[in-house]
Amino acid sequence: MTFSQIIGFLALAGAALAQTASQFCDSSSGICFQGYTDPTMNMTVGFVFPPVTTPPSDEYIVQIVAPASYGWTGVSAGGTMANSLLFTLWPYNDQIILGTRWTSDYVLPDPYTGPKITLLPDSTANSTHIKATFRCQNCTVWQDGSMGSGDLTAFQLIAYVASYTTKVADPSDVDSSMQEHDAFNFFGLDLSTVHDDNYSSYISGGAAPSAPAPTSSSPTSTSAPPSTTSSASGASQTAFGQCGGTGWTGPITCASGYTCTKLNDYYSQCTP
Ligand code: HEM
Ligand SMILES: *[C@@H]1O[C@H](CO)[C@@H](O)[C@H](O)[C@H]1NC(C)=O
Ligand SMILES: *[C@@H]1O[C@H](CO)[C@@H](O)[C@H](O)[C@H]1NC(C)=O
Ligand SMILES: *[C@@H]1O[C@H](CO)[C@@H](O)[C@H](O)[C@H]1NC(C)=O
Ligand SMILES: *[C@@H]1O[C@H](CO)[C@@H](O)[C@H](O)[C@H]1NC(C)=O
Repeated sequence: MTFSQIIGFLALAGAALAQTASQFCDSSSGICFQGYTDPTMNMTVGFVFPPVTTPPSDEYIVQIVAPASYGWTGVSAGGTMANSLLFTLWPYNDQIILGTRWTSDYVLPDPYTGPKITLLPDSTANSTHIKATFRCQNCTVWQDGSMGSGDLTAFQLIAYVASYTTKVADPSDVDSSMQEHDAFNFFGLDLSTVHDDNYSSYISGGAAPSAPAPTSSSPTSTSAPPSTTSSASGASQTAFGQCGGTGWTGPITCASGYTCTKLNDYYSQCTP
C-alpha cells in the first residue's frame, strides 16, 4: 500500500462502522435490496444476489438512485477507488448512461470490459431522479479484487461518489472523461444477508430477452425509459418494449406483429 492508500483505508474502515445496509424494496419492480440511503448525498445504493450456490454465481443486481441534477454518480463494488469494479452513470436525454470502469490509482478510471451490465425495466430517468437498476454478470471478481474477498457470505465495504454539478465531458459517451467527484462515502454490506431466493424472478422481470442491444458487445447499457408524458393514448408499443405491469401507464398494445406477453406482475413485453 502507498501512504495515501493506507490513509484512505483507515478513513473508510472508520466510516464503515457508522453506516450499515438494511433492506428496502422497490415499489415499482418489487425487487428487494440490501442497501443504504445517504441523507447528505441524497443517493440510494442497494445490492441483491442470487442464492448461494457451488460454484458461486458471478452476478448480482445493483440499484442506484440519485438526483437528476447531478453531473454524474458512481459506485465502487470493492469499496475503494483503486483496484475495484467501478460503475459510473448519468442521465442523457431521458436515457441512463451506465458504464464499468477500473483504475489502479486516484486518476480518471479507464473503461473496463469483462463485466456485462444490463439495465432492468424499472430503470428511469425523469425530471427529478435517475434510477438505474441493473444486472451485473461476471461481476464478483475483477482485476486485483473480488466481492467479500472471494467469500460471498462475508463483509463487503461499498463506496459511492457524486459530482454534484459538474457534468462529464461528453454525456453521450459512456467512456467520457470526467473531473474528480465532490463527495464520497461508504456503507457496510453483510453479504450473508444479500442472497434472495426470488432473484431469478427479478431477472426475468428485467433483463428478459431484451431488445437486441445495439451496444451489446460494449460494457455500455442504455435504456429509453418510458415517459408517462410521451405515451399518447392509443399509441402502440414498439418491439420488445414494455406494454404492461403494475404501475405502468404507457401503451398497452403492441405494434403489428407483436403480442403483449406478461413476464411477471411488474412487466409485460411486446414479443414477436
Ligand atoms: C477523473 C476522475 C477521478 C479522480 C481525479 C478521482 C480522484 C480521487 C481522489 C484524489 C480521491 C481521494 C480523495 C480523498 O481522500 O479525500 C478519490 C477517492 C475516491 N474515489 Fe475517485 N476520482 C475520480 C473518479 C472516480 C470514480 C469514477 C469513482 C467510482 C465510480 C471513484 C471512486 C472513489 C472512491 C470510492 C473514493 C474513496 C475511497 C478511496 O479513497 O479509495 N472516483 N478519488
Ligand atoms: C439533499 O437534499 C436536501 C433536502 O432536499 C437538500 O437540502 C440538500 O442540499 C441536498 N444535498 C445535495 C448534496 O444536493
Ligand atoms: C470477466 O471479467 C474479466 C475482467 O474482470 C475479464 O478478464 C473476463 O474476460 C470476463 N469473462 C467473460 C467470460 O467475459
Ligand atoms: C422520478 O423517479 C423517482 C425515482 O424512481 C421517483 O421516486 C419519482 O416519483 C419520479 N418522479 C416522477 C415525477 O415521476
Ligand atoms: C419472494 O417473493 C414472495 C412473493 O412475493 C414473498 O412472499 C417472499 O417473501 C419473497 N422471498 C424473499 C426471500 O424475499
